[in-house]
Amino acid sequence: MFESLKPIAKDPILGLMAAFRADKREKKIDLGVGVYQDDSGRTPVMKSVKQAEALLMDLEHTKSYQGIAGDNDYNQQMMSLLFGSNHSIVGSGRLATLQAPGGSGSLRVGAEVVLRARPEAKLWVGVPTWPNHIPLLGSAGFSIEQYPYYDLSTHKINTEAMMDALSQVPAGDVVLLHGCCHNPTGADLTKQHWDQIAQLALDRGFIPFIDIAYQGLGDGLDADAYGVRMMAEKLPELIVASSCSKNFGLYRERTGSITFIAETSEQAQLISSQAMSIARQIYSMPPAHGALLVALILGDDQLRADWQAELEEVRLRIMSMRTLLTDSINNNAAGIDFSHIKQQRGMFSFLGIESQQLERLREEFAIYIVSSTRVNIAGINSNNIEYLSQSIRTVLDAG
Ligand SMILES: Cc1ncc(COP(=O)(O)O)c(C=O)c1O
Repeated sequence: MFESLKPIAKDPILGLMAAFRADKREKKIDLGVGVYQDDSGRTPVMKSVKQAEALLMDLEHTKSYQGIAGDNDYNQQMMSLLFGSNHSIVGSGRLATLQAPGGSGSLRVGAEVVLRARPEAKLWVGVPTWPNHIPLLGSAGFSIEQYPYYDLSTHKINTEAMMDALSQVPAGDVVLLHGCCHNPTGADLTKQHWDQIAQLALDRGFIPFIDIAYQGLGDGLDADAYGVRMMAEKLPELIVASSCSKNFGLYRERTGSITFIAETSEQAQLISSQAMSIARQIYSMPPAHGALLVALILGDDQLRADWQAELEEVRLRIMSMRTLLTDSINNNAAGIDFSHIKQQRGMFSFLGIESQQLERLREEFAIYIVSSTRVNIAGINSNNIEYLSQSIRTVLDAG
């Protein structure tokens, strides 16, 4: 049977990571990988997570199955993290939140619920978007349409083209938006963009589907949720997939949640039962460990404050690396302006250099960057910044 299977082309990012591991040069730098790294280049377990794990060792008395919707405390805490505890939507009965395996599992459950409700709905994604959005959501059954998002020549959102495209989206279609820290561009929607898109959603009747995988890594926990909170107030229907992979550093624990806002509480209950039947058909129940940790952290004043302080440190480190990189390249940048890096948010930005310059960075200087020129800002640290900016200046000066 299996002889009929065709090999799948290797993921270019995995290929780049393998080449990086095999590289013996001492000064090598990996800016391709998509996880946070601290100033010593490690991806550590957060101290608040370690403390919650110690507590859990004592508190956990069973490994019996938990419900299909996951841990109830976790779901409640995620709602207040996303919306803020005083938001009118919390307690309105119009919310349905389920724990799901990571941001990816959450996106998938969201997509499948939409397609049960409206099999002909199309999904509109910005260009570019996180490369996994299309296979993940397309294979759920969505046909994918695209809208312009980022202008490579100006390093800004192409507002006019984006709004033009979104003002053509038919009623009942779904528009995917990045809540904050856009991956791969780092160019986030402004408040004005969010407000304008909310108005278009109301006028046209499309439904925003917000993927928020980096809450707290951009401008802070509350500021990063502006779009989610404003749309939850203004729109009758909304879908939000969130991930604790980055802001709690729980990558491998597969911790996320999917939230639906319905017009009525009866509809929210219907959605919840449909989402649970979908989860049951795919993975039955989400993994417990990460969600129990998040519920413990967010439910305890001291642990929550510790976690917020650690997250703030992460956010500020990324911001300072953005400034340092911009300033050190721009000191001598062959006439190219890199100020977008300083202005953008989250872990990623496009460097925007030529492919032969990228190749030279890898071959001559052991600096690994994916072909789109997306760099992981968190891969930069006080030990490698000088070598990195010097190498970039060298390849830029050579033209
Ligand atoms: C934009 C975006 N959405 C979703 C995810 C998925 O996160 P998770 O690892 O929690 O599945 C990522 C991860 O990189 C991402 O960048």
